Amino acid sequence: MYFVNWQREVSVKEWNGQKVVVKRNKPTKEFHEFLIIYTYSLISILLATPSAPPTFSEIMKNEGRDMRNNLSMMGISTPALISISDNDLVEEYIEGGDLYRALALGQVASLAFEAGRLTGRLHKAGYAFVDNKAQNYLVRGDSVIRTDLGFIQRNSSRYAKSMDIGSFLASVMDLGRYSEIEMAFYEGYLSESDSRFSHLSLLIRNVLSLGFSSDSKVTLRNMLLNSAGLLDI
Ligand SMILES: Nc1ncnc2c1ncn2[C@@H]1O[C@H](COP(=O)(O)OP(=O)(O)OP(=O)(O)O)[C@@H](O)[C@H]1O
Ligand SMILES: [Mg+2]
Repeated sequence: MYFVNWQREVSVKEWNGQKVVVKRNKPTKEFHEFLIIYTYSLISILLATPSAPPTFSEIMKNEGRDMRNNLSMMGISTPALISISDNDLVEEYIEGGDLYRALALGQVASLAFEAGRLTGRLHKAGYAFVDNKAQNYLVRGDSVIRTDLGFIQRNSSRYAKSMDIGSFLASVMDLGRYSEIEMAFYEGYLSESDSRFSHLSLLIRNVLSLGFSSDSKVTLRNMLLNSAGLLDI
């Protein structure tokens, strides 16, 4: 079994008069990426549904045009792809920046509703993002666009869906407005999918949030909030 052991260097550049984002692969070990992949693999083993992490070529394929067209047909927008090779990927720059930053700066929680909606749509189509952090959504006006497509899997198991819900919630758990964001994401998700959140998604959230968090006091406080109303019990 091999794990992904590379990370990307992301930079903004000017290309033919257009602002673009260049994502260059570099072989360093980044904590967040490992956390996602190890948690995913470890919990899948504990649940006796072993699930292999994606290989490098699967990751590159997921970032390519076919997957982007596929997502677009589901109503999930991605930045326009300008070029892709084994070493780097160039895509359109999205001015609004990522969703975590937007929420941290006080932008409307309905952006989290949009992220929930896209997650529900993807699940309905039989896929999962696996790494569904708020940092992987970009903001354009009132809508959100999905980037960082490498870990997408054709998998609609309860476990894969829980990983998406848990990783999204974990990524926003250090925000003071967590409850409001959680509710918006939940409502967006329910508007597309008929299943509520599983216990497993909150378990994954709690495991991941300890590693993601930049403010552990706020994270722990949010962990103690009662999210039982969102569960499928
Ligand atoms: N097209 C884009 N337009 C604007 N900002 C972007 C774009 N793509 C990425 N970013 C910014 O760069 C960050 C990292 O990008 P991305 O998630 O694709 O890289 P990564 O190396 O896989 O990161 P991580 O491992 O932390 O998820 C995003 O969270 C976002 O803030
Ligand atoms: Mg990312």
